[in-house]
Amino acid sequence: MRRIIVATGNRGKLDEIRSALDFPGWEFVTAADLGADGLEVEETGETFLDNARLKARAYHEAFGLAALADDSGLEVDELGGEPGVYSSRYAGDTATDADNNEKLLAALADVPHERRTARFRSVIVLVGEDGSETIADGACEGSIGFEPRGTGGFGYDPLFLPDAVPGRAMAELSLGEKNAISHRGAALRALHVKLEA
Ligand code: IMP
Repeated sequence: MRRIIVATGNRGKLDEIRSALDFPGWEFVTAADLGADGLEVEETGETFLDNARLKARAYHEAFGLAALADDSGLEVDELGGEPGVYSSRYAGDTATDADNNEKLLAALADVPHERRTARFRSVIVLVGEDGSETIADGACEGSIGFEPRGTGGFGYDPLFLPDAVPGRAMAELSLGEKNAISHRGAALRALHVKLEA
C-alpha cells in the first residue's frame, strides 16, 4: 500500500483527489487521519507551482511520507488574471468562500458576459518518500456568472460556468462530473500518467 499524505485541510479538494486517484494500492491520508494537526504553511510563492511545492515539501519533511499538494485558483481575464494565487484570500485573510464570491461579483458588476472569461488552474506536486518530485497541471476554461448557482464543490464553483458544460455552474455538477472536466481532475490524470510511466 502506497501511503501518501495530502497537504490540505480543504475537504472539497480532498474529496476530489480521493475520487480522481482511486487506484488499488494507493491510500491518501490527511494529518487528521494520523491524529495530527495540519501544518500552517505560509503560501509566500508567486506562482501555483511555488506554493504547491512549499506545501508538499513541508508535509514530506514533517511526516516522512510521500506528500501531495495542489495549489489552485481562479484567473479572471477582465481582472488581469486576479485573484490567481490569492484566490482563497481574495476578500481578506479570513475571507469565506461567500465573501470571495461577493467581492468577485462586485468587481465584475458592469462587465458583460462576453468579457467575463476565466479559468481555474491547478498545479500538483507529489514529493516521493525519497524526496523526488513529480509535477502535473491542469486548467478549466469558462466564464463568471452573474449570481451564485448550485450547492456542490467549494470556492468559486457557484459562480464558474465551465465551457465544457453549457448552461450549468460548476457547483451544479456531481463530484464525478466535476472531476471529468475540472482543472484538478486534469492535473490528477496527468499525474497518474506520469507515475505509471
Ligand atoms: P489554495 O488552497 O491555496 O490552493 O487555494 C485555492 C483557492 O482557489 C480556493 O480556496 C478557491 O477559492 C479557489 N479554487 C481552487 N480550486 C477551485 C475549485 O475547484 N473550485 C472553486 N474554487 C477553487
